[in-house]
Amino acid sequence: MITAIANQKGGVAKTTSTIAIAGLLAEEGSCLAIDLDPQGNLTTGLGVELADGQPTAYEVLVGKVPLEDATVTTASGITLLPGGIALAKIEKELQQQPNRLHSLKKALDPYLEQFEQIVIDCPPSLGLLTLNALSAADALLVPVQCQFFALKGLQGLMETIDTVQQRLNPDLEILGVLPTMAEVHTTITQDVMKILRSQFEGIRVFDPVPKSVRFPESNMVGKPIHQFTREWRLVQPYREVVRQLFLMSER
Ligand SMILES: Nc1ncnc2c1ncn2[C@@H]1O[C@H](COP(=O)(O)OP(=O)(O)O)[C@@H](O)[C@H]1O
Ligand SMILES: [Mg+2]
Repeated sequence: MITAIANQKGGVAKTTSTIAIAGLLAEEGSCLAIDLDPQGNLTTGLGVELADGQPTAYEVLVGKVPLEDATVTTASGITLLPGGIALAKIEKELQQQPNRLHSLKKALDPYLEQFEQIVIDCPPSLGLLTLNALSAADALLVPVQCQFFALKGLQGLMETIDTVQQRLNPDLEILGVLPTMAEVHTTITQDVMKILRSQFEGIRVFDPVPKSVRFPESNMVGKPIHQFTREWRLVQPYREVVRQLFLMSER
């Protein structure tokens, strides 16, 4: 089961959610997390520091290195395909390749038996890297910050997903929208939840992840949230995402 975590907006908790979800998945079985963002925040957020010349998702996507030669195991038991600034070259590098939208899928194919779950942290754009993730994925999770301005780009994202389903990957299913950084008892959050639920009829809107300093703190020490705090309300929304993921993969 391959899950892409995407939204073209930055700062909506894609990376933080990927870490939380991969951490929970790794408790249940083998989990590969893929950092497709040139910023490499997933890599740093899982406590991995890249050495000079260490291969990343870039080398794997352009076919220079097989996946197994680029992955590392993190302290939290996740297998990580790290990402870094080299990924910024990918659009140019793959421009001439007719199969450029399926490079990731091709690189992952030989390893699908090896990992029960694969999660992909996408960069904040709808460019080649995100399209590679969407064409490889079975499921898509869309984190959305609980702010009015965050709702704006969602229509465009949904249109892109439609196009992907029609042209690149008919099997892609939307797992749901995950509201993040919610100030739970404020009217803003309640209004945003209402708008999300009415705007995305037929799409699951998960319970919101509360705003908490525990998240940036856990990012700093490279730990998934459930290993960092016992605060149930912070972990529970992610447990529900994982539960739905397993339900989807059993189908
Ligand atoms: N629930 C949350 N509460 C408070 N801060 C959060 C929460 N989730 C993420 N953050 C913080 O918000 C910032 C952006 O999150 P990040 O996961 O990097 O977003 P993205 O990957 O979408 O750009 C980070 O500093 C992260 O620690
Ligand atoms: Mg990120």
